[in-house]
Amino acid sequence: MREAPIGVFDSGVGGLSVLGEIQHLLPQESLLYVADCGNVPYGEKTPEFIRQRCSVMAGFFRQQGAKALVLACNTATVAGVADLRRDYPDWPIVGMEPAVKPAAAATRSGVVGVLATTGTLQSAKFAALLDRFATDVRVITQPCPGLVELIENGDLHSPVLRQLLERYVQPLLAAGCDTIILGCTHYPFLRPMLRHMLADDISLIDTGAAVARQLKRLLTARELLAEGPARAAQFWTSADPEHFQHVLAMLWNSKGSVRSFEL
Ligand code: DGL
Repeated sequence: MREAPIGVFDSGVGGLSVLGEIQHLLPQESLLYVADCGNVPYGEKTPEFIRQRCSVMAGFFRQQGAKALVLACNTATVAGVADLRRDYPDWPIVGMEPAVKPAAAATRSGVVGVLATTGTLQSAKFAALLDRFATDVRVITQPCPGLVELIENGDLHSPVLRQLLERYVQPLLAAGCDTIILGCTHYPFLRPMLRHMLADDISLIDTGAAVARQLKRLLTARELLAEGPARAAQFWTSADPEHFQHVLAMLWNSKGSVRSFEL
């Protein structure tokens, strides 16, 4: 069982930002990554639709013998993680949520910004997160339709992307945010552009590394950590494998074979 793989999925390439943190912390693990690019963006889909996709992904990873599941997607987590934990009570499942707690602890201005998908920001789970951790700070939320699609195209430097990002960041700066949460796993790929746009004293926070640490804790507690040499990740996409391969070459540090996911 220690040598069994770990299933990781997202609506597209965003979860690679999390996969990278997992691979960095746990290089000996065999990682299976599914990008549901045929259905991206999740951020504008109904919770019912996303729950259904979560269930399809979980079924696939179970078939592959995965010892754990990571929802490398904030939007999928708010919609689907509760059902998955109910359906697979003994399976280690790690979800993600915008980093409200660390941001509330870090802010000096007392104003925190959240960039995330519409689905995440409208969810009851996100409202509960604010109730729990954001009582002493002001939180400005900003849905970002369109960003994910540009990132999926491997478009990380264009003027169109810059313009859209500026439009989304501007209200946060105007409100006095000094800490900005990247509440969608696609957005860490915008860090270079954001750093260019923002003053040095504005912090950007995401939860990829925390998710990797949580996964390690769960596997350690169950004596499921793999041993041995580093292993390469394997990839599937529900859209065009060639396109995914092309974007993967920009966002992933090593080569990976990409297969077609047809569920
Ligand atoms: N990467 C996802 C997230 O963390 C969702 C992006 C999307 O498909 O809208 O929320």
